[in-house]
Amino acid sequence: MKNTVVVGAQFGDEGKAKITDLLASNADVIIRYQGGSNAGHTVVYNDKKYKFHLVPSGILYEGKTCFVGAGVVIKPDDFQKEINELIAEGISEEHFKKALKVHPLAHITMPWHTEVDGYSENSLGKNKIGTTKKGIGPTYTDKYARVGIRVEDLFNEETLSEKLDVILPLKNKMLDKVYNLNTYSKDEAMALCAKYRKIFAPYVCFEWQQLLDDAKRNKTILFEGAQGVLLDIDYGTYPFVTSSNPVGGGAGVGASVGPLAINEVIGVFKAYITRVGEGPFVTELLDETGEKIQKIGAEFGVTTGRPRRCGWFDAVIAKYSVLVGGLSSIALTKLDVFDTFETIKLCTAYKNKKTGEITEYYPTNVYTHKDYEPVYEEFKGWMSDTTKVKHFDDLPNEAKIYLKRLEEVSGAPIKIISIGPDREQTIFV
Ligand code: GDP
Ligand code: IMO
Ligand code: MG
Repeated sequence: MKNTVVVGAQFGDEGKAKITDLLASNADVIIRYQGGSNAGHTVVYNDKKYKFHLVPSGILYEGKTCFVGAGVVIKPDDFQKEINELIAEGISEEHFKKALKVHPLAHITMPWHTEVDGYSENSLGKNKIGTTKKGIGPTYTDKYARVGIRVEDLFNEETLSEKLDVILPLKNKMLDKVYNLNTYSKDEAMALCAKYRKIFAPYVCFEWQQLLDDAKRNKTILFEGAQGVLLDIDYGTYPFVTSSNPVGGGAGVGASVGPLAINEVIGVFKAYITRVGEGPFVTELLDETGEKIQKIGAEFGVTTGRPRRCGWFDAVIAKYSVLVGGLSSIALTKLDVFDTFETIKLCTAYKNKKTGEITEYYPTNVYTHKDYEPVYEEFKGWMSDTTKVKHFDDLPNEAKIYLKRLEEVSGAPIKIISIGPDREQTIFV
């Protein structure tokens, strides 16, 4: 396998983890490149459901390196909790110690980040983003404001102390005067960092340069993205986005390699679209069809348990995602969810309700999205079970017609079709 990036191509939860887990069998190093514990990734293996948030979805294999990259932000308690839960599920502690590595340049979500996230969401009221309240935005804000704490800082008490002398007075002033939240003394902050040091000690990889040097020359790398292109801080439905770069271009930066280390970028799409949290969604279905998709697709968030909003596949978004996400191919998941649908719709363009103008190009000012309605093409459903199909040729004709058109309007070839959560329920085209 070539070095491949797995990118969420819609609003997250496309089934990236299933595809990452699948492709990880042919990779040596799996690097998660952005996001934090806002992500909720599900892998089903041997009839067991594993939930990952920070741990790369390749962890179920022996003999691979799973690397939490520099572009990720880590809430130490969440990281510890996730590992403990997976140990309780039967993955051994020894396996984690051997396979899991954390980049020393990854930023840490401190308690104040989570508290500020909660405050901001509450104070925005009806204008809230609908974040996961995991402190993601405030952690990245501090990273870019150059007042963040990185994993490596925990391992040098002297320089950590110096850093905190700069960060804390500033932070405390903000926490107190702007947010009316609790402040942190130097002793409290040092004690938190000492606790975090213990959490990361078995995993921090100070030899990351050697590891990547070797990986680039002799190994196959799989880059795992979180969230999705439409949640990208630059290209998503801003401001209803996350605070990192899920796009393919984010992989090089977040995984400490350049673009030339990447050979293929697979965009993962659902056969429809879902979204959690606030923000516009042109093909959203607020009727019983939306409810049917939600029910059959079991569309509830892994991280927050919130119901996911559902709608028809939007090729305006898909085409945009192929462009800005840098996608070279498509993995289409959850086709099986349509097995009992008599009719399926595909949005191929947006119509401006005010001017009548039709566009196939994605309008980036999301405050105008209420002015657009989807232009649909209708397809006859196949009304049969696809969950055991092994080869493309054995798919029902109606499904092939839908897929062919979806591929055509999206602008990238479909290479993988997923017809169930299991590894086996996959068709390579
Ligand atoms: P991720 O965040 O992109 O990794 O996706 P999530 O794990 O949040 O959500 C995807 C959900 O769909 C999970 O529960 C998967 O087990 C499930 N899933 C993945 N692929 C398929 C598929 O082809 N069909 C069905 N029915 N479920 C799938
Ligand atoms: P995976 O990796 C779906 C959404 C939140 C909110 C917005 C900002 O499982 O696909 P944040 O907490 O990141 O500041 O929230 O982004 N969001 C996700 N939606 N899947 C995810 O991850 C998400 N991670 C964040 O719901 O709308
Ligand atoms: Mg998810």
